[in-house]
Amino acid sequence: MPTPLPPDWNDRLALDRAHLWHPFTQMQVHEADPPVPVVGGEGCDLLLANGERVLDGISSWWTCLHGHGHPRLVSAMERQAARLDHAMFAGFTHEPALELVARLRPKLPPNLTRAFFSDDGSTAVEVALKMAFQAQLQRGQKGRDRFGALRGGYHGDTLGAVGVGELENFMTGLFRPLLLACERLEVPEDPRRELHADLTGWPERLEAARQSIRTFFADHGERLAAFIAEPLIQCAGGMRMWPPELLQELRAQCDAHGVYLILDEVATGFGRTGTFLACEQAGVAPDLLCLSKGLTGGTLPLSLTWATEAIYEQFWGPPASGRAFLHGHSYTANATACAVACASLALFDDEPVLANAATLSAAMREAFTVLAAHPAVRQARALGTIGACRLVDSTTGEAHPADARFGWRLHRRALDQGLLVRPIGDCLYLLPPLSTPPGRIAEAAATLLLLLDE
Ligand SMILES: Cc1ncc(COP(=O)(O)O)c(C=O)c1O
Repeated sequence: MPTPLPPDWNDRLALDRAHLWHPFTQMQVHEADPPVPVVGGEGCDLLLANGERVLDGISSWWTCLHGHGHPRLVSAMERQAARLDHAMFAGFTHEPALELVARLRPKLPPNLTRAFFSDDGSTAVEVALKMAFQAQLQRGQKGRDRFGALRGGYHGDTLGAVGVGELENFMTGLFRPLLLACERLEVPEDPRRELHADLTGWPERLEAARQSIRTFFADHGERLAAFIAEPLIQCAGGMRMWPPELLQELRAQCDAHGVYLILDEVATGFGRTGTFLACEQAGVAPDLLCLSKGLTGGTLPLSLTWATEAIYEQFWGPPASGRAFLHGHSYTANATACAVACASLALFDDEPVLANAATLSAAMREAFTVLAAHPAVRQARALGTIGACRLVDSTTGEAHPADARFGWRLHRRALDQGLLVRPIGDCLYLLPPLSTPPGRIAEAAATLLLLLDE
């Protein structure tokens, strides 16, 4: 049983019920099962209003890198807010934005030279899509009125981003009449990421997948402005890990057909997959790169779309040429968010953040190896600090029916046991802050085993 809430939360939850509308939520659920009040964050834990402490096993929607309330991040925000909280970025510039690009650029593929700020992952993707389309037009490529994307992808919730995504639980189907034209390409999961991999026939399947990418571009390449993909792992798509060789093939086909390659590293960036960016593991550099979530260490909303000089040049000209990229947001390059992003990047330079992530990755593999032995678990896999598996009914081996809401029930029960997990469909995963002590991952696996036994 959960520890009861202090009585003053009764009125607050009544206010929530009366006026709030939560994201990704059928609000009727909260009639019987109200949202969980959270009152603090400390390291890799969230502190709940009922006095319990839970491991933030999903980094608060994949944002938190160095733990909650990191003193260097907190003081960077305080200092910057006192000095210059925010100023418009059209016609102005400021130190935190400049320091941020100076710190980040050496960590990125060297062809990415131009940084455009926006507010969150979805807007970073919108910017990339619009830039790609406009750059193609302005270099004389007029028939490129559509995008390519991987099947089962997710790139955010604004209409442009929904158009290149394909997840029914994110309402892609409902909004179809309003969406961009998008051609979709299927790539297989990479069995080498599985902890009990069966590689029979894999070289042949990989070659067939390469061939289907070539066929896709032969069919659609001349119509595409850009192809967008999350490198190596489709996170919201159910932690679907796909082969780096196919990202290389995508790069080659984009080059051969004059299509820009957009890599969406909103979720995969900043060490999650074991390297600073996931695309490093394939040796692939995109034309446009989307970053958000971990950019500020998980403290404030901010995003960046990086472009090559060749793309930037397509927008260059006198004001009357009409070539400018006329896009922006009120909070573009928010100074406080830029300052905390600098502090987060400084931690990568001053502390062994990636080395700690490597230790965490080893713990993650061990934890999912243990989980893999449970009869309710299939297809346990890991990539860097991300571990995932599929949950089935342990007696029948079949998927749980959607109306059983197994994932939601597991999420709620795990909270009572000090662990925040939030399965996506039948995919149970852990994606904790990079600073999580490895021992906490072993504990999380033990908790999950107990819950699966129940
Ligand atoms: C790969 C990817 N791209 C874009 C987004 C959208 O980011 P945001 O929720 O910050 O708009 C997400 C969010 O989960 C994501 O995982």
